[in-house]
Amino acid sequence: MKSVLVTGTSSGFGLVATIELARRGWQVVATMRSPARRGLLDAAVAQAGVGDRVHIETLDVTVPDSVDSGWQQALEITGGRIDAIVHNAGIAVAGAFEDLPNQDERRVMETNFWGVLALTRVALPTMRRQKSGRILVVSSNSAYTGEPANSIYCASKWAVEGWAESLAFEVSQFGLDVILVEPGPYRTEIWENSPRVLPEGSVYTDFLRRLEKAIDERVATRARDPREVATVIADALETDSPRFRYPVSPQARIGLLLRGVLPTTWHRALVSRLLGLDRGPGRRPT
Ligand SMILES: NC(=O)c1ccc[n+]([C@@H]2O[C@H](COP(=O)([O-])OP(=O)(O)OC[C@H]3O[C@@H](n4cnc5c(N)ncnc54)[C@H](OP(=O)(O)O)[C@@H]3O)[C@@H](O)[C@H]2O)c1
Repeated sequence: MKSVLVTGTSSGFGLVATIELARRGWQVVATMRSPARRGLLDAAVAQAGVGDRVHIETLDVTVPDSVDSGWQQALEITGGRIDAIVHNAGIAVAGAFEDLPNQDERRVMETNFWGVLALTRVALPTMRRQKSGRILVVSSNSAYTGEPANSIYCASKWAVEGWAESLAFEVSQFGLDVILVEPGPYRTEIWENSPRVLPEGSVYTDFLRRLEKAIDERVATRARDPREVATVIADALETDSPRFRYPVSPQARIGLLLRGVLPTTWHRALVSRLLGLDRGPGRRPT
């Protein structure tokens, strides 16, 4: 039985990927930062009848001791071998850069970037010794281009992709694959859980109100079923020759294509037009 450790399994992609992988016969160490949040996963595991293959453990990717003990616990459960890691835990905070509290920005980087590095560092000696393993990072189509009011989230995903692309050079000699899964918008809890920062009297109030309306009307309503992403994650872990990059959803595939061909200023003008951000004096993209 192949084994996988997944982070952030209390909801969203982490939860549905746990179920998909367990259904396919994987032994899943499903980790979450707070065991009090295990209710949804417990219910999904019971409904899918995969309780014998899912082990729920505590792992907060921002706490070094928790990363160490979560990994050791996983090794004990699997008998010392882990075939794959799914770095899924992630958070976002929306708002104009100038308004974002520094501690919120740091929290995003600690989770989406440093958390991935910390767990990988702990896992690499085991995976190198195994001479095989897959390190899969749930990135985002936000890694392709900048996005308004999403600067720190984009920065975290750009950063993790640069790291992953570099790491892949170093670890392929040990039989390890590094994989990016890059979803577009999907219906998970991240939309409700992410704080939207808009301080009283912000000079960005008008801009953010228009953006929020456009996102709610044009992006959130098109968000798709997260099980599509779970299927791609499981396929990427099972295929004989994984690709490095898996854009998921039409938005992500188009975004990746455009990144390669469209000059950045044209892209900014297009997105500003689509989101209604280019109206009013001084608001034209420069
Ligand atoms: N949904 C989308 O449209 C979308 C698109 C592209 C990429 N993504 C990426 O997909 C990944 C999963 O997000 P999601 O959309 O499934 O959102 P979600 O439902 O909010 O799930 C995020 C998960 O990460 C966990 N988490 C947060 N901080 C953590 C920490 N310090 N340690 C361990 N776990 C932590 C959360 O746990 P708690 O329950 O304790 O908060 C939750 O289980 C993220 O990396 C996100 O950036 C999402």
